[in-house]
Amino acid sequence: MTKRILLEPDPILRKKCQPIENVDDELRKLMKDMLETMYKAPGIGLAAIQVGILKRVVVVDISKDDQEKHPLFFVNPEITYRSKETSVYEEGCLSLPGQFAEIERPAECHLKYIDFNGKEKELKADGLLSTCIQHEVDHLNGVLFIDYLSKLKKDMIIKKLIKHKKDIERVIV
Ligand code: NI
Repeated sequence: MTKRILLEPDPILRKKCQPIENVDDELRKLMKDMLETMYKAPGIGLAAIQVGILKRVVVVDISKDDQEKHPLFFVNPEITYRSKETSVYEEGCLSLPGQFAEIERPAECHLKYIDFNGKEKELKADGLLSTCIQHEVDHLNGVLFIDYLSKLKKDMIIKKLIKHKKDIERVIV
């Protein structure tokens, strides 16, 4: 079942998420729903907070359209290493439709997390996966990619998003 994605500006997107204590069937159902929501959007990463659930859960799939799907589920993800070397990607976000900006982040990161089956895992990521993981972990702490921009650029994007939200409401009404 797909879920509704919250759009910036929304105060919920600025909250800090709580750790998961148990990977149970209820959580697995949430992760499956999040994955379905992400594929449908479409996007390559989604944090539970973006569907209004303040838990430290993330789903990611960076496989290309013509490749086999390769979903990743991260429960309580924790970045344990960030390289000094950086890389720049043009980032977007399902909660900020139509908005993109070049963001510089550590090129490589290491991640500690619990997987879909409740097993502790570690992962070394670089390239797009590294950027995507850092973007998603930011969500769990109420941080959006526009927070890395100048105030001027950030305010401009938020203004556009407010207008976009009003347009959506107008269509619904
Ligand atoms: Ni995002």
